[in-house]
Amino acid sequence: MPNENSYEVALQKSNAIREGLTKTPEKFTMLTGDRPTGRLHLGHYFGTLKGRVELQNMGAKTNVLIADYQVITDRDTTEHIQDNVYNMVMDYLACGIDPDKTMIYAHSAVPAANQLMLPFLSLVSEAELARNPTVKVEMEASGHELTGLLLTYPVHQACDILFCKGNVVPVGRDQLPHIELTRTIARRFNNRYGKVFPEVEALLSETPLLPGLDGRKMSKSYGNAINISMTAEETAKRIKKSQTDSERMITFDPENRPGVSGLLSTAAICTGRSEVEIAEEIGMGGSGQLKKYVTEAVNEYFAPIRERRQRYENDLDYVKDVLHEGNRRANEIAEQTLAEVQDAMGMVY
Ligand code: TRP
Repeated sequence: MPNENSYEVALQKSNAIREGLTKTPEKFTMLTGDRPTGRLHLGHYFGTLKGRVELQNMGAKTNVLIADYQVITDRDTTEHIQDNVYNMVMDYLACGIDPDKTMIYAHSAVPAANQLMLPFLSLVSEAELARNPTVKVEMEASGHELTGLLLTYPVHQACDILFCKGNVVPVGRDQLPHIELTRTIARRFNNRYGKVFPEVEALLSETPLLPGLDGRKMSKSYGNAINISMTAEETAKRIKKSQTDSERMITFDPENRPGVSGLLSTAAICTGRSEVEIAEEIGMGGSGQLKKYVTEAVNEYFAPIRERRQRYENDLDYVKDVLHEGNRRANEIAEQTLAEVQDAMGMVY
């Protein structure tokens, strides 16, 4: 029998949920979130934001978390955090997240959700925490020592998901170990104290991971990402600077031509065409013509989103109101869940 926690089983379950969502969206509570370490980029947009908006508009209960406490898992500063959080709200709104339908809130504003961390920590062993492969990768990538928070943040992420009784979490493959741990915590809590929490499943993205402009993993630190918030001119400049190669004929070959192929993938996702089709059309036009095509494709796709974003940039009061209202609703839900937890544990005085 396949392991419950294998990728294949996760994918099967994810497909079943996708089907369930079309039939009975009201049975699903989605929660997902982002670390506010900078601006959201095209990888975020096509990998997850677009899907969140679809779930929202299908009628699932949707919750989006700005994971500010996760910023300090592997760094020593909260510099720019307020600016990053407000800008994240702007990115969400511009991309179509509707605050009347989706609760947008920040970790640090919801004390009762954070308090779930105490009982949840008692339900996992040090060994289980230590073998989480994603935590290991993050520790190595950060060049930082393993902080207590980095080791235990997957438990904190279980608090994120379970405080609102989330049962579907749209995530990338790297987050699967955290979903597994959330499921384990929910089961152990329910077994020990009585049923409070639901079964949680991951919803895996259907779009393949969009590489950066140079073909490497898209990352702010590589300078190979286009942010949603960039202007058309900034976008053009970034694409112009991206590395291609000396071969004139444009072909799609991610292995041997990462730069050219990264550009083709960016154009493909924005136009809905295939990389090969675009490559054939440009042919001997070379990288100059390719870059022109990519720039137009990105700027055309994001023009309405960026126009909306501009309006929010000019109305910071509204952006703050959205977040405050989300925080208020999140607190209501968290206090309710914490009361159920304390009741189940007999901690009622
Ligand atoms: N760990 C996620 C990331 O790095 C962000 C996140 C925080 C999250 N809490 C979550 C995602 C809860 C899904 C569910 O992108």
